Amino acid sequence: MRKHRKKPWWLKPFTVRSIEQTRVEAAHSEMKRTLNILDLVSVGIGASIGMGIFTFAGIAAAEKAGPSIVVSFVISGIAAAFTALSYSEMASMIPMAGSAYAYTCAAMGEFIAWIIGWNLILEYMVGAATVSIGWSAYFIAFLEIAFNCKISTKWVNSPVAFFGEAFITTGNYLNLPAIAISLVFTILLCFDIRQSTRVNAVLVVVKVLTVLLTIFTCIKYINPDNYTPFFPPNEGEFGKYGISGTFSAATTVFFTYIGFDVVSSTSQEAKNPQRDLPIGILGSLLICTFLNIAVGLVMTGVVPYGDLHPAGQNAAKPIAILIATTGLNWLNIVVSLGTIFGSASVVLILLMGQSRILNAMAIDGFFPEVAARIHPKYKTPWFTTILSGVLCALLGGVLPVDVLGDMTSVGTLFAFFLVNINVIILRFKYPGKPRRFKVPLGPFVIPILGAGISVLLFCTIPASTIVHFFIWMGIGVVIYAFYGCSYTRINILHVSGYQTVKEST
Ligand code: ALA
Repeated sequence: MRKHRKKPWWLKPFTVRSIEQTRVEAAHSEMKRTLNILDLVSVGIGASIGMGIFTFAGIAAAEKAGPSIVVSFVISGIAAAFTALSYSEMASMIPMAGSAYAYTCAAMGEFIAWIIGWNLILEYMVGAATVSIGWSAYFIAFLEIAFNCKISTKWVNSPVAFFGEAFITTGNYLNLPAIAISLVFTILLCFDIRQSTRVNAVLVVVKVLTVLLTIFTCIKYINPDNYTPFFPPNEGEFGKYGISGTFSAATTVFFTYIGFDVVSSTSQEAKNPQRDLPIGILGSLLICTFLNIAVGLVMTGVVPYGDLHPAGQNAAKPIAILIATTGLNWLNIVVSLGTIFGSASVVLILLMGQSRILNAMAIDGFFPEVAARIHPKYKTPWFTTILSGVLCALLGGVLPVDVLGDMTSVGTLFAFFLVNINVIILRFKYPGKPRRFKVPLGPFVIPILGAGISVLLFCTIPASTIVHFFIWMGIGVVIYAFYGCSYTRINILHVSGYQTVKEST
């Protein structure tokens, strides 16, 4: 009889999960498969259209790119498209809920997979917290416009701010609306996923209609003179207009594309994941890119770009400025409502993605067993949903938006980088394994471009954020060394939630 040799401890971080195992586990998932193509596209749009288009685009046009913000949208859209193609190949090959975490388990082993899962917390949980703060600002503005109701600023702002190189107190108490929206969606997400996707579908319809209404009502107010100069001359500083400004603005508006990949985390709830996930990912990206470009054209065509975010003004309200310029005051209330609905669905969908990824990691032993449980009636990962929602509420209630926003971008870019690399590795490791979707032009061109652009955008992130990012990564490495490494079992077949049934080969 052949003797079973135990692996040396130092090989443990490189343990991978086989493709067969991922498929068997996905086929035996306890979650309910109810999502069709339309649901998946609306999940992608739900996560994408939010603060990026309603706020950051106007700021970037005013401060960095001028009318060439449209080009910035095209650049960041192409960057996102390369990565979306890679995500599509991975999702069609590995139909598991862990998204980039699950793909990395198969390609690079458990340590890098843990690191990527740890980073996805930045994209999803921290991203949801960032948008919850934006939502809070839109909500307060709406109460003021519609009902002339003013709330004490102490209860709608964060108690700390990041100034220079340190956190300082602001004298505010908490951002209560940001806390409230996260907790309300946490409760919703604990129930059947159908309820959450129905709410999301309504929010998505309202926000897409709002964006279309803004485009079509404002288009006739475009003054072609506002497009000249299309690339305002550089003012002697990198990123302040000129070509460098257009590229720097592309990094800012990249925020609009954060979240399309959340579609891949619903893999175990999709009816036909291998066919429908690529359609959901690429379809939602295409629709959002079109809307982004159209909003950029209208905004800078109607308002002289410098007026979209006047210097010295704290709260950015480019869309409100756009509407005020047209004089269509009725549109203000409608669009304010649309932005509230729009950013709400981003919070909902990012929290949904976060809970599924944490659950997938818990099934592998990265978190205690309770986090791997699925609700017996609603078939949702209730524990990780509550955990994600409460932590998101705390972050959104206490921290300032700029710190959270930068951390979201850095975490997302790191995940995008690794997903592109995974495509290359898995093409060589499993050349013959079926993939319903393959990135065009072979295993190198698209993934290398996607990974390269992610690195380029990463380099434009402020140094203080990179420091915070490495601190976050360091914490992740310590947790792996003292906990994950001892408890994980990613190459053991788990076929009923958190039960280990049989060791895979
Ligand atoms: N893409 C999302 C937004 O723009 C995160 O709000």
